[in-house]
Amino acid sequence: MKKVNIGFIGAGSFISCTHLPTAAATGYINIAAIAELDDSIIDRHKSRYDVGYFTKDYKDILKDPAIDIVVIGTKQDMHAKLIIEALDAGKWVWCEKPMCETDEEALAIIAAEERNPGRLAIGFNRRFAPGYTLVLEELSKRPRPWFVTYRVQMDNFDKKRNAQSFYFKRPAMVYEGCHFMDLASFIFKEAPRRVYMSGAENAENDCIILEYKDGSRFQLLSTNTAGNGGLGKEFAEFFAANFAAQVDDFTDVKLRGDYGVYDKIIPPAWGVFNEETLQYGYDFVESLRSTLAQPEKELLQARGLSLEKVVRGHSERPYEAQIDAIYEKLKDRHWTERVFQVDKGWEKAFQHFARAFLEQTEPYNADGRAGKLANDIAYALLESKKQRMPVEFNSSI
Ligand SMILES: NC(=O)c1ccc[n+]([C@@H]2O[C@H](COP(=O)([O-])OP(=O)(O)OC[C@H]3O[C@@H](n4cnc5c(N)ncnc54)[C@H](O)[C@@H]3O)[C@@H](O)[C@H]2O)c1
Repeated sequence: MKKVNIGFIGAGSFISCTHLPTAAATGYINIAAIAELDDSIIDRHKSRYDVGYFTKDYKDILKDPAIDIVVIGTKQDMHAKLIIEALDAGKWVWCEKPMCETDEEALAIIAAEERNPGRLAIGFNRRFAPGYTLVLEELSKRPRPWFVTYRVQMDNFDKKRNAQSFYFKRPAMVYEGCHFMDLASFIFKEAPRRVYMSGAENAENDCIILEYKDGSRFQLLSTNTAGNGGLGKEFAEFFAANFAAQVDDFTDVKLRGDYGVYDKIIPPAWGVFNEETLQYGYDFVESLRSTLAQPEKELLQARGLSLEKVVRGHSERPYEAQIDAIYEKLKDRHWTERVFQVDKGWEKAFQHFARAFLEQTEPYNADGRAGKLANDIAYALLESKKQRMPVEFNSSI
């Protein structure tokens, strides 16, 4: 079988648990090379994967005629430079989000995309999350306006607000919010005409409204210092005439419409706990997550707090014993070991791009324009928050 040769530039935390193992497990992908500066990461990947070669100089990958796709997994301060160099070297390019940090960079990326044959994909995986795919297929058959309400509890905020962190003083609405701005643009297939963000100045707990010209709305509650991981990270509802749908944490899908009432459970990514999830439904996922999210439960119990685990649906809770055993097995494992993850579409987005290269078809991953649009909306929201009022959004895309 013909394989696509992928070279990774930067293979740290995120790439280690997502695209690298996906590449290794996908029959039509070859991990041709990894450029990485950190020796401990190189050693770990060496022991786990069959990699063509390792290098500390990413230019080796750009110069290598055998490499078809370059995956950029560094932090965003290097994205624009690497995307442009890789496109100019004739490669197809996958770059993690956000696409870049400034408007000048975004314009330079789009220019590079236009002068080269290679395609560019930005890692906005929610376009490919199977729960959303299912809902959007139905929603798109309905007349507009559509109404979407989304809630995200962004995590790691305290860690990222630390002065030592790369993310210190970088707005979460850009580096994380860009995911939801892209999802909105993907759903509505256009840019909003007006945007509004309301929130306290010293925290990033914000309420957002994107207005579209036909009356459609995308509203987002995005919390950082507020929230708890015991509840799913993301929750979405979609409404149109005689249509309502809900997706709880990418897993529990409810479709209600003139055609009837349908539910579907989307199994977790990577095959971990698929069987249990399909057998016991979302209750299992919730129980598992609430157990994993409370590693300090003994401590809390000692303080006299009741820690009733989630009890819904299955009154006999046939998976109770399993959950405790799973907790014991997993409690010390690092998340990059693909312990448990709801299906946010990471794997499907990545495989789609690789397959598009092999088949020389047009991928529907986010391109440079979509990357810029997501950033533009995020920056307009920051401006709106500063002005404390809605701002007109004139997309140049
Ligand atoms: N799509 C998603 O859901 C998602 C989730 C998390 C992170 N991300 C994105 O992934 C990217 C990486 O984030 P991370 O948390 O894995 O960062 P990280 O710091 O853990 O990894 C970046 C790696 O790049 C390497 N690197 C830096 N400069 C290099 C160079 N010149 N040559 C080769 N390697 C170099 C570093 O050594 C490091 O290991 C970010 O853009 C982040 O926003 C995406």
